[in-house]
Amino acid sequence: MMTKIILDCDPGHDDALAMMMAIASPKIDLAAVTTSAGNQTPDKTLNNAMRMLTLMKHEEIPVAGGNHTPLVKPLETAGNVHGKSGLDGAELPDPDFKPQNMTAIELMAKTIQESNEKVTLVVTGPMTNAAIFLRVYPELTNKIERIVFMGGAMGLGNWTPSVEFNIFVDPEAAKIVLNAGIPLTMAPLNVTHKAQILKDEIKKVDEINNPVAHAFYGLLNFFEIYHEAPKWGFKGAPLHDPCTLAWLIDPSMFESKLMNVDVETQGELTTGETVCDYYELTGKPQNTDVLLGIDRPKFIKLIMDSLRTFD
Ligand code: RIB
Ligand code: CA
Repeated sequence: MMTKIILDCDPGHDDALAMMMAIASPKIDLAAVTTSAGNQTPDKTLNNAMRMLTLMKHEEIPVAGGNHTPLVKPLETAGNVHGKSGLDGAELPDPDFKPQNMTAIELMAKTIQESNEKVTLVVTGPMTNAAIFLRVYPELTNKIERIVFMGGAMGLGNWTPSVEFNIFVDPEAAKIVLNAGIPLTMAPLNVTHKAQILKDEIKKVDEINNPVAHAFYGLLNFFEIYHEAPKWGFKGAPLHDPCTLAWLIDPSMFESKLMNVDVETQGELTTGETVCDYYELTGKPQNTDVLLGIDRPKFIKLIMDSLRTFD
C-alpha cells in the first residue's frame, strides 16, 4: 500500500534529498510538490524543486510555488547554509517543464480533492503554505491523513538559542498547524542531529554511478561545509528533512514519544520555540508523535539504496 504525499519544501540540500527518497521509494506516491520561502527566496526554491525533478526525470509531478513571505515576520533566508542558489555544490539542469498555473495551496487543494484516499502532507520548510491551506480550505482537513514535518527542537535551537530555523521563519504558521487537530509527526533537531551522514559515507555516494548520485555527492559536500564548525560537535552533516521520508518509509528505524507540542509566538527571546510537554505537565492533548532516536546505519542504507534506484 503506497502512501500518497504532497511535499511542501524549501530546497535546500536536505529537502532535495528528501524529494529523492520519495521518488525512489515504492512505498511513496509523490502526488505534488509545493515550495515555500525559507532556505532561499521563493523564486529560487521553486526553481530548485523543478531542477531536481528535471535531474531525476520526473517532470510529470506537478509543482507550484507558495507564499513569498511568512504570515507576519519578514522573510529570513539561509544562504549561509545552502548558498546563493539554495542548492550550491552541483551542476544541476535548468527545469525543462513549467510549474502549474496555480498557487501552492490551490495545488494542495486540487490534489486532495481529486484523491480517492487521504493524503499525507510532508513539510520540510517553514509552515506558511500549510497554515494558509488549512485556513482557506478547512473542509479538506478531514482528507489529510497526517502532517509529517521537520522542524522545532526540544531544547537547543540551530538559528537562535532555543529555536530551529523552519519554525523561526514562520512561528505563527507553525502554531496554526500544530493546533489544527490533525495527527502530527515531528522530526526535531533532537533526532535530525543524530541523522548525520559522515564524510566517508558522502564519498561512497560518488561511487554510485548515476547522474543523480553524482549530483548529490556535490550537494552533500557543500552542505557539510557549514556543519564543520566545531561548535556543532558534528562528525558529518545532519540530514534534517530526509528524516520525514525515512519515517514514512520505515518508521521502525525511529524511537518516538507522543506529547503535546505548541509554539511560542510572543517571547522576546524565544519566539519560534517548540514547547514540548515531554513530562505531560500541562494536561494538554498529546497532539504530536515526536521522533527522538534513529538507527543511523539503517537510515544511511536507505539513502544509499534510494540513490541506486537511479542507475
Ligand atoms: O533547521 C533545519 C531545517 O531548515 C531544514 O528543513 C533545512 O532544509 C532548513 O529548511
Ligand atoms: Ca528544508
